[in-house]
Amino acid sequence: MIPALLLAFVPSALGISVWGQCGGTNWSGSGSCDSGLSCSSVNPYYSQCVSGAAGPTATSTKPVSTSVSTSARPTTTTSGAGTTLTTSRTATATSPTTSAAGASGAAGNFFAGRQLYANPYYASEIAAAIPSLPSSLKAKASAVAKIGTFVWLDTAAKVPTMDTYLADIEKQNAAGASPEIIGGFVVYDLPNRDCAALASNGELTVANDGLTKYKAYVDSIAAIVKKHSKTKIVLLVEPDSLGNLVTNLGVAKCQEAHDAYISGVEYALKTLNFDNVAMYIDGAHSGWLGWPANIGPAADLFASVYAGAGKPKALRGLVTDVSNYNGFDLASKPVYTESNPNYDEKHYINALAPLLEAQGFPAHFIVDQGRSGVQPTAQLQQGDWCNVIGTGFGIRPTTNTGDPLVDAFVWVKPGGESDGTSDTSAARYDAHCGYADALKPAPEAGKWFQAYFEQLLQNANPAL
Ligand code: BGC
Repeated sequence: MIPALLLAFVPSALGISVWGQCGGTNWSGSGSCDSGLSCSSVNPYYSQCVSGAAGPTATSTKPVSTSVSTSARPTTTTSGAGTTLTTSRTATATSPTTSAAGASGAAGNFFAGRQLYANPYYASEIAAAIPSLPSSLKAKASAVAKIGTFVWLDTAAKVPTMDTYLADIEKQNAAGASPEIIGGFVVYDLPNRDCAALASNGELTVANDGLTKYKAYVDSIAAIVKKHSKTKIVLLVEPDSLGNLVTNLGVAKCQEAHDAYISGVEYALKTLNFDNVAMYIDGAHSGWLGWPANIGPAADLFASVYAGAGKPKALRGLVTDVSNYNGFDLASKPVYTESNPNYDEKHYINALAPLLEAQGFPAHFIVDQGRSGVQPTAQLQQGDWCNVIGTGFGIRPTTNTGDPLVDAFVWVKPGGESDGTSDTSAARYDAHCGYADALKPAPEAGKWFQAYFEQLLQNANPAL
């Protein structure tokens, strides 16, 4: 069999060669890719031939929405990359008291010498899972319950839990917790959430005055932060948002979300700019924005949002690989990363940071490694983001990253919670959750997925 990478360079008269368009709205050409390639949907308007035989073809009449984490590839001119990023809003001239860099260096790294809260909600999910685990995995599961993870504020109704958890952290710190405990939360309720996919669509929409409601949601978080001013809090701002504005403006729901995403994220950055807070905005991942056609426009957008929010002191930088599976510093380039030079998070971050710095945003990074234990992954395409088969828990949270740009490896996605349902009749069913490399049957995004948790325990690397 000819390896997929070789096929990329073998011309064929039979079908469309690698990266060629093979489908999408109004596409009247052929949908047949060269042998060894498959036609993969980048967004409803554009499908291209990629190596491997993964995923549904894009020739079906129902547009397959791309996932957030999937719109990995630069798609020539169809992505809209770079065309809308700086035009909708002029960066404000608000002058910061201290920039992200000013607050930074090791001193601005909240993770240094501290531990992230192992929240009771995740611990309760694990406690409920333990009785049905094979006995060889029970102790490993208990060990995971003690690892600090982030609490996802994925609905307005969950915001009050933050108050409870912070009060608990304060109690434990007052009782002498060592190292000191810090709280970690994911701010995740933008209108038209997860606009290029379906699995994590949220409760707010742009059409239903979602931006106003979103601001109220952010205000309620701010009120709780204020109440707990002695506790250090890390906030991850809106996974699945700005990355979509870089590559997925061809998707109507993302186009509609454009201004709301920018206003919403900037509002959150301004409103949550407290001394006891360190924020990281979501920077997608290497296999998405690391592509040469995407990284420049991505840097422009992140820098523009940073400036637009008034260069808030509490904005420490970016979090990458959230809910994804990429390795940090790989010994060799996995085949499914195709020709992307930034094939792991370290390459991506080290390519992105200077671009941000050049625009006055001296960002630091944290990287989700919670489900990145198995490298290379068994992904058929790097864009496959839903409950990928064969993954394992990854590097334990640490500030020992070996990279001065990287504050910490963290676990953001609570391993064992689903990425999306495989029930094809569900309103939030996304085709990615039906792919051959997605574990099935899978419950709705965020719900407990016992078989997946078991897989992560079994394949944990380092072992638990
Ligand atoms: C879901 C959220 C969930 C989060 C963490 C996201 O994919 O949409 O509801 O809180 O994952 O599991």
